[in-house]
Amino acid sequence: MEISKKLFFIGSGNMSQAIISGLLETKLVKTENIVCNDIIKEKLFNLQQKFGVSIAEDKGEAIIGADTIFLSVKPQNMLRVFDEIRNFVKRKAIIISIAAGITTKFIEDNIHKDVAVIRAMPNTPALVLSGITALCKGRFVSDEQLKKAKCLFSAVGKTEILEEKKFDVITALSGSGPAYIFYFCEIMQEAAEKLGLAKDIAKKFAVQTIYGAGKMLDITKEPAKVLKEKVKSPNGTTEAALKYFESRELSAIVYKAMEQAMERSKALSK
Ligand SMILES: NC(=O)c1ccc[n+]([C@@H]2O[C@H](COP(=O)([O-])OP(=O)(O)OC[C@H]3O[C@@H](n4cnc5c(N)ncnc54)[C@H](OP(=O)(O)O)[C@@H]3O)[C@@H](O)[C@H]2O)c1
Repeated sequence: MEISKKLFFIGSGNMSQAIISGLLETKLVKTENIVCNDIIKEKLFNLQQKFGVSIAEDKGEAIIGADTIFLSVKPQNMLRVFDEIRNFVKRKAIIISIAAGITTKFIEDNIHKDVAVIRAMPNTPALVLSGITALCKGRFVSDEQLKKAKCLFSAVGKTEILEEKKFDVITALSGSGPAYIFYFCEIMQEAAEKLGLAKDIAKKFAVQTIYGAGKMLDITKEPAKVLKEKVKSPNGTTEAALKYFESRELSAIVYKAMEQAMERSKALSK
C-alpha cells in the first residue's frame, strides 16, 4: 500500500523528527516524498542535512503538491498555522494533527468544513521506534485514509484506533507518561546516591532496571501486578519498600497527577 505520495510536515521539532526517522528507517516513505517546514530556518537546514528530505520555507507552495499534511506545532501555534494554510489545502488532502488537546472538529472548523482530519497522540519513545500512538478520525475521513495514517505511525511503534473522547486520558497516560517514568528514574537514582552509591553506578542500575522491567512487561505479557508479586517475598526487602509506598498512598498521588494532566488536555481543547 502506498502510504503517501508527498508528506508535508508543518513544525519540524522533536516529534516530527522522530516520525520522519521511523518512516525512513522502515522505508515506508521515500526520502524524496518528505517535505518539511518550520519557522526556525536553522532547524530546517539541519533536518535536510540529517535525513536528506526537502525543505520548504513557503507553506502554500508545498501544500499544493502534498496529499498528507502533518501538523506538528505546539497547540498555541495552531491558529497561526490555520491562517497560513487555509487557502491552499486541497479537499482530497489528509490532515494529520498530533497537537495535544486540539480536536478534529476544531481543525475542520478552522480549515474548511469537509476536510479529512485525523488526530493522533504519539509519545516520545517514538524516537527509539518504541512509541505508542492513539488515532481517531474526523467526520470526513474514509476507513482507507485512517488505515494509511495508522500504517504511517506503525513506523515508530504500536498504534491503536480509539474514540476521540478517550484522547484526554490517553494524553495523561501515554503522552505524558514517559515523563513520569523518567521522573521515577531520576528520584530512584537520587535516592541510591543518598544511600551510598556513586552517581554513575546509580544511573546505570536505575536505567537498566526500568528498561528490563519494561521489557519483561512486554515479553512475558503478565500483568504488572503479577510481576510485582513475583519480585516480593514475605517480609523481604521489596515488601518493605512497597508497604511504605502504600502507606503514603502512592496510587492516590498517581491518580491525582494523571487527573491534572487530563484536565489540562481538556482545557487545551476549549
Ligand atoms: N513531545 C511530546 O511528548 C509529544 C507527545 C504527543 C504529542 N505532542 C505534540 O506534538 C506537537 C509538537 O511537539 P514537539 O515536541 O515536536 O514540539 P517542538 O519540538 O517545539 O516542535 C515544533 C516546531 O514547530 C515550530 N513552529 C511554531 N510555529 C510554527 C509555524 N507557524 N509554522 C511552522 N513551524 C512552527 C516551532 O518553532 P518554535 O520553537 O519557535 O515555536 C518548533 O520548531 C505539539 O502539538 C505537542 O502537543 C508532543
